[in-house]
Amino acid sequence: MSIIIKSDAEIALMREAGRITAAVLNKLIESVRPGMRTEDLDKIAADEAIKLGAKPSFKGYHGYPASLCVSVNDEIVHGIPGKRILNEGDIVSLDFGVIYKGFQGDAARTVGVGMISPEARRLLETTAAALKAGIAAAKAGARLGDITAAIEAYAEPLGYSLVREYTGHGIGRQMHEDPQVPNSTKSILGLMQGHGPKLIKGMTLALEPMVNIGRWETMVDDNKWTVRTQDGSLSAHFEDTVAITDGEAEVLTRA
Ligand code: MF3
Ligand code: CO
Repeated sequence: MSIIIKSDAEIALMREAGRITAAVLNKLIESVRPGMRTEDLDKIAADEAIKLGAKPSFKGYHGYPASLCVSVNDEIVHGIPGKRILNEGDIVSLDFGVIYKGFQGDAARTVGVGMISPEARRLLETTAAALKAGIAAAKAGARLGDITAAIEAYAEPLGYSLVREYTGHGIGRQMHEDPQVPNSTKSILGLMQGHGPKLIKGMTLALEPMVNIGRWETMVDDNKWTVRTQDGSLSAHFEDTVAITDGEAEVLTRA
């Protein structure tokens, strides 16, 4: 395993990539409404990224067929945009990334379509807050496992499950660099609080808790991409690309 440390000049470019990624997600969030097709969001994302001078990074990655991942309700991640129509009350996870001047941005948000149930609203708030807790733990001198433990310690006592088979990751010139960043100490990586590599200035990580109302187990559709909860429960996903600094982590995917 080798973690690539970025210079200040490289972080500056990742800040640009991150800002574009966040701006595209903001545009998508404004656009979501009942009656639209998930492929409409894919087109908005690709057009907006290109308008901002960046290239959508997901298209063609291991054969992924779209620019955006759109995961609805019990879908966790990697939903493929298509003819599916969004209905009032759905929750929709939007995951998007770009390449800009050689560097990657990667972020995700889950939003409601029109009015959603209090249970769904609470899931979104919890997942966003779990990401925030992970970011707060991502300080120079701490260990990678402190991020994992902070995410878990936020969401689990509230009765939610963290997805174990998919993780956050290092990010830079490649979308996926070392290290993997699990969201659960019970992942196969077995990363616990106080363990794992020490965090140092210049590391850039994509933190991305996936939180289920029900159990943690996942399954993959016949399309080989769409990951959903085995028990059919709702799932939410929030992701930010962050840089480790001497103080608080800097969130790069803010518009
Ligand atoms: N944000 C996802 C990730 O962190 C997106 C990758 S999906 C793919 O891995 F479509 F690009 F494969
Ligand atoms: Co990611």
